[in-house]
Amino acid sequence: MDGLTKTLPLLKELRILIVDDSAVVRSVLSKELLRSGVQVTQAENGQQALDIALRKEFDLIITDVEMPCMNGIELCRRLKSDPRTQQIPIVILSSLDSEEDIRKGFLAGASTYITKAQAKESLIETIETVLQKTTFQRGRLILVVDDSSTVRTLVEKGLKEVGFEVVKAENGRAALEILKNERPDLILSDIDMPEMNGEEFCKAVHSDPLLATIPFVVLSANNDRPIMRRMLQIGADSYLVKPFNIDQLVITVEKLLSDKLLLLYKEKERLETEQRLILASITSLCCALEARDAYTRGHSEAVASIATRIAAGMGMSREETDLVMLGGKLHDLGKIGVVDSVLLKPGKLSDEEFAIIKRHPVIGADILRPVPSLAKILPIVLYHHERIDGKGYPEGLKGDRIPLWARITAVGDTYHALTSDRPYRAGMDREKALQIIESASGTQLCPDCVEIFLKMELWAGESGDTVSDRTGGPSDEEPIALPDAAAAPARK
Ligand SMILES: [Fe+2]
Repeated sequence: MDGLTKTLPLLKELRILIVDDSAVVRSVLSKELLRSGVQVTQAENGQQALDIALRKEFDLIITDVEMPCMNGIELCRRLKSDPRTQQIPIVILSSLDSEEDIRKGFLAGASTYITKAQAKESLIETIETVLQKTTFQRGRLILVVDDSSTVRTLVEKGLKEVGFEVVKAENGRAALEILKNERPDLILSDIDMPEMNGEEFCKAVHSDPLLATIPFVVLSANNDRPIMRRMLQIGADSYLVKPFNIDQLVITVEKLLSDKLLLLYKEKERLETEQRLILASITSLCCALEARDAYTRGHSEAVASIATRIAAGMGMSREETDLVMLGGKLHDLGKIGVVDSVLLKPGKLSDEEFAIIKRHPVIGADILRPVPSLAKILPIVLYHHERIDGKGYPEGLKGDRIPLWARITAVGDTYHALTSDRPYRAGMDREKALQIIESASGTQLCPDCVEIFLKMELWAGESGDTVSDRTGGPSDEEPIALPDAAAAPARK
């Protein structure tokens, strides 16, 4: 999936060449693209486009088919056969929409084919998809297996010219050796080779679950249909009969990789949807939890907000602060498993009741553990009640053994608990709460986190905009083990 994380160039940085003999079409397309910040160049026909493409660099070419001087299909062929322009993805935009027209476009090397009617709705989306595919393909590794050094060299040259990386082997056995260390995105293999032929090699690849999903293309001088059929049966995805045209080879490779990419996208989309749903369900659980008790309302949001600011103050990346935020929102999720008679009890808790409350970090972590995408925030949920001096729960971890994100969350949790009204006491004022936080540094709370928090609070206090103002709202926390110096009556 690594290719999916490569960034797509911003639309505004793109240089697109529009080729159409209709000035009206060029003007409409240009306006649409200019609105997205794209740099647009126009050409009236294929010949003019070819001249311009050889002089200037482009990230994409959008071309009509029917034009005087040189039509779009011929332009496509010429661009794809010239090493200087063959890497530029081409979108054919035509009013012709028969299967034969579309087939001709793809055969000439177009990345995609859309009709002018579709363009109105989906031009930008199509451009993005084509560029994502191109970005994905650039730098992909192809394993070329052939006993002929001439074929290996020719194929390598053709593939490298369009941006692929190539690794070569002279027979199946040597290729399997390479596969111990390299994971190519596609394999091109001859059939007749010494030591291990293409058929044995294909079988070996497909019997290994780690290799079986790599697209496998057979290159063979043998046009024997039964052999080809057998190769397809044992797992080959496609075949090319020698002598083949190198452009034909490149198109086959690109097509197979695009298909693989589409599958990866679909899988990625499915996973993202699943994660969104899981997160929405968990967030609903948290809302349900907070709805049980007026005093807890807004607590998780407030803790998340303070923890995120501390994390940002420590110089963490956006990705990290987002996770700290999520962990803060879910840190008390486990209270869903604490009975009302204990969770909502206004008075002092008995030892048994406190023991029940102390289970909530483990319950929360157990609820979230089956969701792989939330693995990184589990330590926040599990360890937000640990103390630096080792007197916290559930594991009594000490100092740096407590994960940093949990130490950060503990500061937010404590501060917000101190300043919030609870059934058994009113929230204290900001100055008093800050004093308590300071005195808890090094015993209950992490000194580094407290230092950042106090700096942040003092700075915010000077500007009259405190963290507590920003996080607002009455809320709660369950028993916090405040230092003895704390004047606030703790619940336990
Ligand atoms: Fe908690």
